[in-house]
Amino acid sequence: MTPETRKQYMHLHHLRAAGVSVLLECPPDALPAILHWGPDLGPLGDDALEHLAAELRPRSDQTVEVPVRTALVPESRTGWIGMPGLSGHHQGEHWSPAFTAVTHERDGHRLVATATDPHARLGLTLTVELGPSGLLRARAELRNDRDVPYTLEALNLVFPVPGDPADLLDQAGRWSKERIPQRRPLTVGTHLRENRRGRTGADAATVLFAATADLGFRRGEAWGLHVGHSGNHRHYAERTATGRTMLGGGELLLPGEVILAGGESYRGPWVYATYGHGLDQAAHRFHEHLRARPSHPSAPRPVVLNTWEAVYFDHDLDRLLDLADRAARVGVERFVLDDGWFLGRRADNAGLGDWYVDPAVWPEGLHPLVKRVRGHGMEFGLWFEPEMVNPDSDLARAHPDWIMQTGDRLPPPARRQQVLDLTNPDAYAYIKERLLALVAEYELDFIKWDHNRDLVDAGSTTRAGRASVHAQTHAVYRLLDEVRAACPRLEIEACSSGGARVDLGILEHTDRVWASDCIDSVDRQDIMRWTTQLLPPELIGSHIGSGRSHSTGRRHDLPFRAATAFFGHYGIEWDLTSLTGGELDELAAWIDLHKRHRHLLHTGVVVRVDETPQGVRAHGVVARDGSEAIYEIAMLDRPATWPPGMMRLPGLDPGTVYRVRPLMPVASHGAAPAWVSGETELPGSALSAAGIAVPPLFPDQSALVHVVAVG
Ligand code: DGJ
Repeated sequence: MTPETRKQYMHLHHLRAAGVSVLLECPPDALPAILHWGPDLGPLGDDALEHLAAELRPRSDQTVEVPVRTALVPESRTGWIGMPGLSGHHQGEHWSPAFTAVTHERDGHRLVATATDPHARLGLTLTVELGPSGLLRARAELRNDRDVPYTLEALNLVFPVPGDPADLLDQAGRWSKERIPQRRPLTVGTHLRENRRGRTGADAATVLFAATADLGFRRGEAWGLHVGHSGNHRHYAERTATGRTMLGGGELLLPGEVILAGGESYRGPWVYATYGHGLDQAAHRFHEHLRARPSHPSAPRPVVLNTWEAVYFDHDLDRLLDLADRAARVGVERFVLDDGWFLGRRADNAGLGDWYVDPAVWPEGLHPLVKRVRGHGMEFGLWFEPEMVNPDSDLARAHPDWIMQTGDRLPPPARRQQVLDLTNPDAYAYIKERLLALVAEYELDFIKWDHNRDLVDAGSTTRAGRASVHAQTHAVYRLLDEVRAACPRLEIEACSSGGARVDLGILEHTDRVWASDCIDSVDRQDIMRWTTQLLPPELIGSHIGSGRSHSTGRRHDLPFRAATAFFGHYGIEWDLTSLTGGELDELAAWIDLHKRHRHLLHTGVVVRVDETPQGVRAHGVVARDGSEAIYEIAMLDRPATWPPGMMRLPGLDPGTVYRVRPLMPVASHGAAPAWVSGETELPGSALSAAGIAVPPLFPDQSALVHVVAVG
């Protein structure tokens, strides 16, 4: 080996975990670059690494005479003509950075590069981690060391995708129909998903994948990127004329939003990169990462009753007491009082900001209800929307200057509300005091933390109306952290007009998400299916709605509704006061069934089935040790051929023999459904290769199947 070669391989770092390899090149005079991110390369010695690096380094791009090096933060000074990593300037100067002095520190699977652009006097710290689940993540921090303000426009992190991926897959959506997958060919150019809503958005890309043409849940290859941020953000995929594919992303900064004075820093969000043999494996890396967090809920997820669709704003104590009694009777463990309890809140046009229990509706405060709820042994939770204010509120009348705005105008109203500027210390202190006071007074176990409008034209009230989504998002994170620190037992749900706040940024500060205001079981099949691309089921609120869906008007039987919601953090969103005794018993039986299986559902491995007979949607959860699994087979259409064919059960241990049985609540009228001919016992290999016959279900019916190892 020549001294030159030795010098080069010293700069190579090979990180390996759970079937993923990341090969990083970290020279002392340039930012670290990923040479390989994807399937495991196996154990490689120094010489092999160097030979591989020589193959992987970019060749001439026909742009400049030297090969164009694309670091984690790509610089145009290298000849890169794609999206730059860092955009900004010192009043017009230093617009093209050159980080030429870099030191690296490696600690296991974590690498920190500290870089300087000596001319611009900018410091950049890049942290790269490959977690035990094979999930890669990186984050960048920029410091301005010059006494001239540095205007930061963008700081994107970029991950190269190997090979020649054919497709792009990401998500879109709207209120009440979130996380709809969209797939298209990956062609030369940029696929850019920019979000300026000031919140994650119902239409968020969620995970942007570059993938092989054969990608499915259990086949093909996928490289995905997720920006863990709840404010404005950007995901993009770029394909160059020379056939290089990049996934990039970061926070989207509004004009003038971040201007760094001398000595000031900006830290961007974690940007996550997941590789999978199929979408399931790509999802498992997120799930395992989240489950390994010390804050991940360890207690069984309590079955919830949320009052929203039961009573809306009609807060009548007797009715709510009746609801609490019935909730307890069916086995609910957490009773959550939704919107409508505070001053002046009789509809969605007034009251936000006045976080005092309304004596006109609650003359004795919430105490009579809380007492009844606790008397039944249930937890009590309460709805808030701390970031918002109605112009028709005492708060807005007293402090119109606390409303985010710019120029001499207010932003256009949305849901008749505006955004409270939490970067304003007085507004922040008021909201924090109100939250803590109410948590203490009612010993709240749970907050449903809602957020029901986009942040448009959102200027700071203390910084002359300057763009302030970045600062607002961080103020919200800080508020969540301070409330949690003060009340360690408290759990917080992130809700935003349903499911418009589903990202790994908010999950650093909360305990579950509300996936959608749509509880219609047909739509929920897909919402759940694609929300689990990022989150494990136990973090996703999943409730049984009323027989007629409030958002679609469709009618569904209880078994279909109950089975569809079964896998997530279970709950009810239904006026139980309208149910007969028999209906309550049937619901109770479903809740009991869920409780008996929630450990498996909330610790197991999510599987989604690729090949199903026409009209059938199927998914399941398999225990980590392969000892059991539960699948749901849902008929969502009327197939052209009948009877429906076979369906494979993926994820089982091939060498284990399993008994296959329908899973039904005990009280479901005793009899087994017609499709059950008896008990089937087969090895996992046969169940994965041949499968079971799909039961002859009507449309909008589903069957749960329990597969348990025998012997
Ligand atoms: C939007 C949420 O998604 C609903 O569940 C409900 O809490 C309403 N807001 C209340 O205003």
